[in-house]
Amino acid sequence: MNAVIEMETRYGAQNYQPLPVVLIRGRGVYVWDQNGNRYMDMMSAYSSVSHGHCHPRLVNVLTEQAQRLAIVSRAFYTDRLGAFLKRACELTGQDRALPMNTGAEAVETAIKAARKWAYTVKGVAPERAEIIVCRGNFHGRTTTLISLSSEPQYRYGFGPLTPGFKAIDYGDAEALENAITPATAAFLVEPIQGEAGIVLPPAGYLRSCQSICRKHQVLLICDEVQTGLGRTGKLLACNHENVRPDGLVLGKALGGGLLPVSLFLASHDVMSVFTPGDHGSTFGGNPLAAAVGLEALNVLIEERLAERSAELGAYMLGRLQRLESPLIKSIRGKGLFIGLEIHPAKASAREICVRLMEKGLLSKETHTTVVRLAPPLVITRDQIDEAVSIIGEVLH
Ligand SMILES: Cc1ncc(COP(=O)(O)O)c(C=O)c1O
Repeated sequence: MNAVIEMETRYGAQNYQPLPVVLIRGRGVYVWDQNGNRYMDMMSAYSSVSHGHCHPRLVNVLTEQAQRLAIVSRAFYTDRLGAFLKRACELTGQDRALPMNTGAEAVETAIKAARKWAYTVKGVAPERAEIIVCRGNFHGRTTTLISLSSEPQYRYGFGPLTPGFKAIDYGDAEALENAITPATAAFLVEPIQGEAGIVLPPAGYLRSCQSICRKHQVLLICDEVQTGLGRTGKLLACNHENVRPDGLVLGKALGGGLLPVSLFLASHDVMSVFTPGDHGSTFGGNPLAAAVGLEALNVLIEERLAERSAELGAYMLGRLQRLESPLIKSIRGKGLFIGLEIHPAKASAREICVRLMEKGLLSKETHTTVVRLAPPLVITRDQIDEAVSIIGEVLH
């Protein structure tokens, strides 16, 4: 076995099962292994590397800020955080933002905000607030977030789990209306379910959910950790249906592919439930993360990454749909967020990923049947052609 893989396997917990490739360098859409082999990255660290690997503008901001001031905690103000939060609020149409680091932390923040809002604004009886979630969701791996997961493996052995969640089928707006009670604080939903295998709800779903939530005084919270920031062809996936959620969770690409940066954004009345000491994070909102986060948003707009995702995603989806491989069960997606579902009787998605790797293309299976294709949004049409021809070779 490769010595580097052996060492990681020997000393690391076995909570991942990486493909057997050791990456040492990245630039744009490409990454390189120890032996100098080049691969196309069609996974982008689960959509975190939308700007491409080591984007020069982001690397510059990171290194300049690292040499000036990096971490001071939120015990003090810095000259970086306000500008980042302002830009994020303006772009997303939200009033206020609370910075965290990982996506899971920002979702936890959303849950805390929704519960406190339910008690202090809506008037739900103490300890009774309920949050509705969807089956097949993925919101993170903390003990609370696995409590609202429907995936047995994520939950098994980690109880006792956190109460206060109710699950309904994804894509079914009527189920949402039926599940709401006077104790319902919020509906937490991904506009497209990413980890479930790039699952798109019926058209108009999110819009119906918004009107149901408004009618019943329930907060609509969209987890756009994966779908946000251009991935699906609009700045936010909510924008496809002109939905403005009461709470919005961003992460992954917000760190420009360099750092963990996440935000919970919300309207004034939701965010004002937090008072000093209610919530926080030593690292959340640090000047290094704020500087990189702001530049990540600026690059996203200036390089028109959402528009590129819409145009090139449609192009890629069309090319993939013309492959006509017996191994393909279905292909679906929006923007550069595409799921290639493999016929389980013919091959596993993991086998396909290994074969793709051997031909110079990296991706990762989600569950056992779907190969995810979510390249950096800076990918070019020629590079998409290159990727599709590798995929075509593997699937024939
Ligand atoms: C929709 C969604 N929410 C939350 C998370 C958790 O983010 P993190 O891994 O940064 O905690 C993910 C990660 O895949 C995600 O896809």
